[in-house]
Amino acid sequence: MTDATNGTGADRASSPEPAAVAVTPGSTTPGSSTPATATPRGATAVQDREPVMRADNVVAGYLPGVNILNGCDLVCYPGELIGIIGPNGAGKSTLLKALFGLVNVREGAVTLQGEDITNLKANKLVQAGVGFVPQTNNVFPSLSIEENLQMGLYLRPKKFSERLEVIYDLFPVLGQRKGQRAGSLSGGERQSVAMARALMMDPKVLLLDEPSAGLSPVRQDETFIRTRRINKAGVSVIMVEQNARRCLQICDRGYVLDQGRNAYSGTGKELADDPKVIELYLGTLAKDVDDAR
Ligand SMILES: Nc1ncnc2c1ncn2[C@@H]1O[C@H](COP(=O)(O)OP(=O)(O)O)[C@@H](O)[C@H]1O
Ligand SMILES: [Mg+2]
Repeated sequence: MTDATNGTGADRASSPEPAAVAVTPGSTTPGSSTPATATPRGATAVQDREPVMRADNVVAGYLPGVNILNGCDLVCYPGELIGIIGPNGAGKSTLLKALFGLVNVREGAVTLQGEDITNLKANKLVQAGVGFVPQTNNVFPSLSIEENLQMGLYLRPKKFSERLEVIYDLFPVLGQRKGQRAGSLSGGERQSVAMARALMMDPKVLLLDEPSAGLSPVRQDETFIRTRRINKAGVSVIMVEQNARRCLQICDRGYVLDQGRNAYSGTGKELADDPKVIELYLGTLAKDVDDAR
């Protein structure tokens, strides 16, 4: 395991005992503006500020009459890295899509810095400061790296060289290989291009869907470290991850989603240490391995 991310998780631990909060299904009043999130200790400073993004009691789905999200709440304060974990099919990707206007929100609300953005179209959201990196098909394979980055800034072409400098600073390899076709890159490199493209618009919040999926352990580590670096550079991040332990190590706060509802929330450390979360979502083997270190 890489120390850079390990250390970061420990840095953020403010509470020695597990204090993740279980959310009972139905505990949120429909239409209520109070999200069913824990108040994580040590995070009060950021919590005094207006959330950069917030979802309240979101009900959403693809097919008529079938809800996938059954009242989801999420708050991301400026500068936070939020992790969303949960079993396959829990609705994690659907939640990100609901935040980004790609699935119809039937009840509840999504706000960006206090402004209602519920069901706004993706192009409007990009303009408003939301960046989204889907899990797959997230680059234009026939275009070069630099052309991909250009596509990320089509709404503000005048800023291109200025943003490119920032992005190549964060992703030096992309600068060195800017003429290479994205389709010829490895999975990890492609993921970098996708993240870089979303960052071209200088978003207030970046939504990442399983950035480490399908990558080798080393590349996964790099992805987590890079995500943390982007976050440290001032971008709030909401990240969905199947690599739950790793995600909880680097995130400030996390949400466990199960069957379209928040099951638990708390700081990354609180969730990672919570026996129920370990038993249900992290696996006891993972805990044994950690204890044996
Ligand atoms: N485009 C779609 N049309 C209909 N159902 C979908 C679609 N995408 C996902 N679903 C369903 O929504 C549920 C949640 O999926 P998803 O949000 O992708 O879960 P997760 O990302 O947590 O694995 C699953 O039951 C899945 O089959
Ligand atoms: Mg998914």
